[in-house]
Amino acid sequence: MPNKQKKILLLPGDGIGPEVVGETKKIIDWFNKKKSLDFKIDQDLIGGAAIDKHGVPITDEVFYRALESDAVIVGACGGPQYDKLEFSKKPERALLKLRKELKLFANLRPAICFKQLVNSSTLKPEIVSGLDILIVRELTGGIYFGEPRGIKPIENGERRGVNTHIYTTKEIKRIAKVAFELAAKRKNKVTSCEKSNVMEAGVLWREEVQSLKDKEYKKIELNHMLADNCAMQLLRNPKQFDVILADNLFGDMLSDEAAMLTGSLGLLPSASLGDKDKNGRTRSLYEPVHGSAPDIAGKNISNPIATILSFSMALKYSLGFEKESASLDKAVEKTLEAGLRTPDIMSKGMKKVSTSEMGDAIISNLN
Ligand code: IPM
Ligand code: MG
Repeated sequence: MPNKQKKILLLPGDGIGPEVVGETKKIIDWFNKKKSLDFKIDQDLIGGAAIDKHGVPITDEVFYRALESDAVIVGACGGPQYDKLEFSKKPERALLKLRKELKLFANLRPAICFKQLVNSSTLKPEIVSGLDILIVRELTGGIYFGEPRGIKPIENGERRGVNTHIYTTKEIKRIAKVAFELAAKRKNKVTSCEKSNVMEAGVLWREEVQSLKDKEYKKIELNHMLADNCAMQLLRNPKQFDVILADNLFGDMLSDEAAMLTGSLGLLPSASLGDKDKNGRTRSLYEPVHGSAPDIAGKNISNPIATILSFSMALKYSLGFEKESASLDKAVEKTLEAGLRTPDIMSKGMKKVSTSEMGDAIISNLN
């Protein structure tokens, strides 16, 4: 219920994470102060930052705090200094643990091209203007988590690396349902991606998605597309898509690609949602699609918009403030309208601003 206190856990993490989450925190504070909302903000370490202090990418304490929060907002996990760590100790494992154990199986990644930024994309303006697609990525299954996995020695001093791509009927139908439900609120169109030409799990994916559509979503237009073709079609004619449904790995790749259609990876928010728990609360985690970007970290030049829009998704999907979410989206758009640009989206005639200036400008447009 709105007005009841909601707990938000901020996990800035590594690289540009602290900067972009810092700007988002200013926005949350603004909502508390100016709109009298009651968000209790808590902040802790994740990823490399947690490894440096505690030796693990996420402590049990933080993990349990995440379980009890109404929304978790993560900045980024990872950095080159951790590349040599054993796999299970890498910063990214924290994120994967949260996704898996909070059962956040549905990852929503909207790719919207703001009209003010049509010239920031590497694609021609007519290809991307008005673009509004939603990638629904399965997030707790597939090759990211399948067993067996590992690197084992074999004969001749060689080694063998194994990962397993697995999906069950239940996992496929559960994510397909999310895609159909969301499409029903948009343009009623779902494109489901797999590699059914080479993978049995892809054949199953196609069949289960189709059977759910035939039974329960007759009004939705469903197309199946091979994932490699989808990657190509996203560049050729992205506006043919409404909702793209994909597994964990294909969804990871297609969403990075879709991000560039919008002008910058620095613009794409995401929401990861689970089922409702017994108290009717949906577990959730919000994060920008971009990573830790260590090359630009600490310089106050990163783009905070993806994280701010991720908080806007939290307002809408977890916190019960749909109107406030829309007003935050509007403030971001107004700021772009005014010509303010962080370096990643800078173009001729615009005003180059820092991370914190972008955050401040969004706040003044909220006012
Ligand atoms: C993403 C990222 C993550 C993923 C990494 C950081 C583990 O690329 O959220 O898209 O592969 O899922
Ligand atoms: Mg990715």
